[in-house]
Amino acid sequence: DLSTSIAGVSLPNLFFNASGVWCQHESELKELLNSESGSLITKSATFEYREGNPSPRYVPLPAGSINSMGLPNEGYEYYLNYAKNYDYTNNVKPLFVSLSGLSLQDNVKMVEQFVAADLPCILEINFSCPNVPGKPQLGYDMDAMENALKVLAPIVKKPFGIKLPPYFDIAHFDAVAAIVNKIDNLAFVTCVNSVGNGLAIDFETETALIKPKDGFGGLGGAMILNTALANVNAFHRRLNEGKKVIGVGGVTSGKEAFLHVLAGASAVQIGTQLKEEGPVFFARVKKELEEIMQAKGYKSLDDFRGKVKTL
Ligand code: DHB
Repeated sequence: DLSTSIAGVSLPNLFFNASGVWCQHESELKELLNSESGSLITKSATFEYREGNPSPRYVPLPAGSINSMGLPNEGYEYYLNYAKNYDYTNNVKPLFVSLSGLSLQDNVKMVEQFVAADLPCILEINFSCPNVPGKPQLGYDMDAMENALKVLAPIVKKPFGIKLPPYFDIAHFDAVAAIVNKIDNLAFVTCVNSVGNGLAIDFETETALIKPKDGFGGLGGAMILNTALANVNAFHRRLNEGKKVIGVGGVTSGKEAFLHVLAGASAVQIGTQLKEEGPVFFARVKKELEEIMQAKGYKSLDDFRGKVKTL
């Protein structure tokens, strides 16, 4: 049994896409819907349509990927329309919608429109896009993050979540968890967004692999697994009862998904591996996790969630 719940809604299984992968257009969302994922989330929306950064802007690497997409998206109205037309009755998969306003004011305007539409979709507000030139990410500015949450949470009213960047310092885990714990309807944190501003260089041509930002971009995939597990576990340990962690980073098979749950994840999102393998990945990772659970004698995710042992 791979079922789970987040923000008061049930997912038939814990797996879905990481926002940004396979979810900009309706055709891709339809493929996620037809896959064995347990849910789906839309591409981070800005107030207006964005073309994004020049290509190449995503490149697979030997142990993951680098990207600087630059928030290409159809504009929030497209995703609001998708959410309005989504069949919540006949689809067992809940719908998550990612919002990534370029300012607090844009986030307020977008959230207000979703609240006005009164839909059962769940908002994941992105505090961690590292790829828009000239825009520092909210996730590394504690005061701005707390202020944004204090403004947005009462407008959202319902349970919602935020997408966080990876943190690398215990003091940051403490500070961010304390902020999250102050916001009653902040029901989950999604850890982690890409490890920001890596640089991949081709040895032969001595050239950066992606074009935007002099080659700097967010790292994902296998190489970030341990950073992701640390962030999932750090928040799992610190968040108040009832608040959940969605794990994302470095899942290429059932084994890493198992480790995310052991670290405390209630659901697991897939970025790089979904981009590389496509939505058929969901059938494989489900089967692999089920086999691991069977071999270890675990019947449900609750049997081992957050139960990583320490020495
Ligand atoms: C993009 C990348 C991110 O990591 C994110 O959270 C939002 C947008 C992007 O480059 O499109």
